[in-house]
Amino acid sequence: MATQLPTTDIRVGADLIRRRKGGTPIVCLTAYTYPIARLLDPHVDLLLVGDSVAMVVHGHETTLGASLEMMIAHGQAVMRGSARACVVVDMPAGSYEGSAVQALASARRIVGETGCQAVKLEGGVDMARQIAAIVAADIPVMGHIGLQPQSVKKDGGYKIKGRTDETVAALIADALAVEKAGAFSVVIEGTIETVAADITRRIAIPTIGIGASDDCDGQILVVDDMVGLTVDRVPKFVKQYADLRSVITHAAERYASEVRDRVFPGPAHVFSKTNGGDDA
Ligand code: KIV
Repeated sequence: MATQLPTTDIRVGADLIRRRKGGTPIVCLTAYTYPIARLLDPHVDLLLVGDSVAMVVHGHETTLGASLEMMIAHGQAVMRGSARACVVVDMPAGSYEGSAVQALASARRIVGETGCQAVKLEGGVDMARQIAAIVAADIPVMGHIGLQPQSVKKDGGYKIKGRTDETVAALIADALAVEKAGAFSVVIEGTIETVAADITRRIAIPTIGIGASDDCDGQILVVDDMVGLTVDRVPKFVKQYADLRSVITHAAERYASEVRDRVFPGPAHVFSKTNGGDDA
């Protein structure tokens, strides 16, 4: 059984992220599992246990397949694998929109059962009361405006925001509301580049872009998209830094043929009475 890594006093907290506004860009990635958290932790400032886990790990069609229990289980795994990054766990659809009381109860469960540093929720003006209630209980909150995957059904797809004056005004109002409610930072997803850059100039908390602008204070990607592991839809804004799909496919093909040809297991992979000792 894996044990939790010792947390050092240099763990990046929400306050340190907040103070990085306008400095060196803040590096964020999603993580859902212990081994991936261990690999990413030395290289990033923030790990997000995104509700995208429902799609990329569990095969749901949208993030609406995520539950509180699912987010908590993955949050615990990522916390075990991370020693220094700020770990933020997404609040799944249905766990916070109802009322400030519901939002606070869910946030308390997530932080209490995972030990993560902060929670994230989608919404702007419409979720300001929820954000304020959670922040008032000393739980740091990250906002998420622009394209909001939990609203994919309502929006009729994954639509870029900020193409009209009306939607630009709504985005700015959302950013200001999230800031005023006390969020320590805000994800801006799927917006027109100039709008994300403008919001970054207007608000005092760091903006984390995804399909947004290089003027944002930080960037985030879904790790499975970034390493080329996603098997279904990959958004246009993703840059793929590795091709793990090919690596895994090739390994599976070689393994299958070696098993069928009785090449694996070879002498080095079996035990005799005289070699190998007692440990597997
Ligand atoms: O769930 C997620 O992975 C996210 C990121 C895309 C920001 O919210």
